[in-house]
Amino acid sequence: MTKNENDDVKWKHSLYTGDGRFGDLSNSKQEVEDFAWPVVKGLLSSIPFTTGHGPFVICDYGAADGISSISLMKNCIDWVQKTYGENQQVHIIYEDLPNNDFNSLIGVVEGWRYDVPGSLLDQKNVFVTCCGRTFYKQCLPDASVHLGISLLALMWSSVCPDVTSSEVFSVHFVKGSPEHRVFEVQSARDWETFLLHRAKELVPGGRLAIQTVGRETCPCTGPGSDVWCMTRSMSDIWSDMMNEEYITEAEYLATIEPYYYHTEEALCAAFKDTSSPIRQSGLRLLAIETHNIKCLWRDRWMRSIKQDDAAAKKHALSFVQWIRTWSNRTFTTGLSSDRNSEEKENILDEMFSRLVDQVAIAPADRGYSRVDHFVSVAKIGEV
Ligand SMILES: C[S@@+](CC[C@H](N)C(=O)[O-])C[C@H]1O[C@@H](n2cnc3c(N)ncnc32)[C@H](O)[C@@H]1O
Repeated sequence: MTKNENDDVKWKHSLYTGDGRFGDLSNSKQEVEDFAWPVVKGLLSSIPFTTGHGPFVICDYGAADGISSISLMKNCIDWVQKTYGENQQVHIIYEDLPNNDFNSLIGVVEGWRYDVPGSLLDQKNVFVTCCGRTFYKQCLPDASVHLGISLLALMWSSVCPDVTSSEVFSVHFVKGSPEHRVFEVQSARDWETFLLHRAKELVPGGRLAIQTVGRETCPCTGPGSDVWCMTRSMSDIWSDMMNEEYITEAEYLATIEPYYYHTEEALCAAFKDTSSPIRQSGLRLLAIETHNIKCLWRDRWMRSIKQDDAAAKKHALSFVQWIRTWSNRTFTTGLSSDRNSEEKENILDEMFSRLVDQVAIAPADRGYSRVDHFVSVAKIGEV
């Protein structure tokens, strides 16, 4: 395997957007305010910090273009400078994969993106840096981070587990099947790897706040409120395209989303055994909260005044554009390397245009409500 092929697999989940629109599309600003900020605020007040010992350091792991977390960062900066004085320096580190669109991120935080209200530009004594490295490695020096935040990024695995399945999304694997087991083991390993690296980076007394998607999100397996299953529909379209010979059976079978839906039990398990590497590293589970996150796309549609066919199509295009940002890469990676990029793009255009038609036909029944877990972790010790 060449280096490039290897990289392709490793970064299978990179976002399909070069125009800095992920945060605009992802629509998650409200849930950050409603759910993530209260968790983070609670953690901030328990971090042992005194002025005169350098900057207060916050790292956003899996930050994408920074749009979703910008208001959270501002809240953190305000909190720190109200508590420790306006001269207290704050260092914000935005971490993501090396192929992340860091240009857009800088555009957002430094205020070049005038369509994003409020950058960090006007915040005094605030310094921003970026780190392009997988969070499954140590990204920052030992004992250098006071608060680590990760919003909706931990679901992507470090590698695409080597399984063959007729399912594209692991959430549809039959529980207990060999492929389900492989994903379960990889998920536990990745969770532990992520935590062990953060254990090194956190100062004693530092805190972590992690938001990740729960398994109950899938209406096929959990008590979700959606009647339509987005991932099932995407798999079915992909399977139809195989039957219609747009793609081969080998390509269909090679398409697996390297993505986990976490369970509360699995997230807690790593902390339970007192002899586990996580406990030995000094990390302790403080709390885990689970919240239902309503689908803001459907919500927006339900509140829209104009609901004719043209409006439904426009709504569906926008909803599916967001779905495509995070899933395009997976479907492309399943396609044979004998195909040129134009061929691949045409196949993916066909796949997503079928999904647009599915959404447009009944927008009120097409949503992606989630059940998310918010995990609070502490590194024991005093500064
Ligand atoms: C759905 S986006 C979430 C972005 C942002 N945190 C938010 O809440 O809108 C997931 C992000 O995680 C990043 N990501 C996935 N795997 C990663 C890894 N191993 N290391 C660092 N970032 C990763 C992706 O590149 C992507 O930017």
